Amino acid sequence: MKKATIVLPTYNEGGTIEKVILAIFNESLQKPHWQVEIVVVDSTSTDSTGEIVKKLQKKHSNLHLIVTPKEGLGQAYIHGFTYAMEKLNSFVVFEMDSDLSHDPKKISEFLTEIEKGADFVIGSRYIKGGSIPENWAIYRKLLSGLGNIIIRLGFMSSKSADWTSGYRAIKTWVIKEAISYIQPYTGYVFQVALLDFAMKHKARIAQVPINFKDRTSGVSKINFSQTIVQTLWYVFSHSSFIKFFIVGTIGFIIDFAISYIFIEKVHTQVWIATLLSTETAIISNFFMNNFWSFAHKKVDHSMNSYAKGFFKFNLVSSGSIAIQTIGVQLLSSIFTRKLWYIYKVIIIVFVVIPYSYILYNKLIWKEK
Ligand code: GDD
Ligand code: MN
Repeated sequence: MKKATIVLPTYNEGGTIEKVILAIFNESLQKPHWQVEIVVVDSTSTDSTGEIVKKLQKKHSNLHLIVTPKEGLGQAYIHGFTYAMEKLNSFVVFEMDSDLSHDPKKISEFLTEIEKGADFVIGSRYIKGGSIPENWAIYRKLLSGLGNIIIRLGFMSSKSADWTSGYRAIKTWVIKEAISYIQPYTGYVFQVALLDFAMKHKARIAQVPINFKDRTSGVSKINFSQTIVQTLWYVFSHSSFIKFFIVGTIGFIIDFAISYIFIEKVHTQVWIATLLSTETAIISNFFMNNFWSFAHKKVDHSMNSYAKGFFKFNLVSSGSIAIQTIGVQLLSSIFTRKLWYIYKVIIIVFVVIPYSYILYNKLIWKEK
């Protein structure tokens, strides 16, 4: 029988932990072909959480308790995942809050997705059928919604609508590969890091809608400002799309500067200056994209594949130049010529950026 282990992180959840544990065991009866275990990771709560779990352990042999120092949510999960893999030999682990915000009745639905072949099932508040609490303060709704939009844009992926959700079922092969990667992300940001890693390592993602309930007892442990800063920084430093955008901006500046110097100062012919400046920008873009934006899927190291990659990069870039030249000319002749720079920006943002980002991913920096 395959094991599914629910990891419950707790810090002062004495008001709800018993209900959560009993509801999980109750729900597990719906899936008799799964052996459900619970690992409570308690960061030395100062309330009765530990005693309640110890009392329940007398009746439930599949209830485990790890007591750790308080080092953040990510660290607590790493302790729980490690125990579930090494001591219990689990096939799937669950992340779930211990304050009844996550309904244990959803466990079967997560397992059904796992049975259908998913590696990473996300309980999503932002798909049809999912929800956040009505009574959440407007700033919390905004933060959560906006945060997810920024993360989705950064990672250019439609596979998850809820990157920060803490209700998940994950096959342990994913965790085994990810564990050293997520180690430095000790706080709530580990949710984003773990999902990003899973996606980049070809885990099959599935979503089930969840209705997140506001806690009715105890207090939230989230440190908002720290979580926002760490999450934005994570997205900024790990998003191919944002890096690609920065590289493009640098390329644009290089292109412009060289053209300017050669046309205005050196007084060469315009076409010579343009050729020189665009090709210099193309070369610098290629290297910055290769070693930075798309470093995790670099073309392989032989001279031959660099040459091929660089050739294709030039082709795609020539396409960008053609699109811009024709587009700006066309719009200038249809509308007024005076607004040429606006047409240029519109074409770059809506045509050139998506065009080149998609082609780079399809032709040059392909998924491994
Ligand atoms: N052991 C341990 N150590 N548990 C912790 C720690 C810690 O340092 N910090 C939080 N927890 C436990 C809480 O006791 C609770 O069971 C669960 O982790 C979630 O913590 P909450 O404090 O209730 O978080 P929240 O409701 O504000 O945040 C929810 O939304 C986030 C953003 O979408 C959670 O679902 C998060 O997982 C989610 O990332
Ligand atoms: Mn909570």
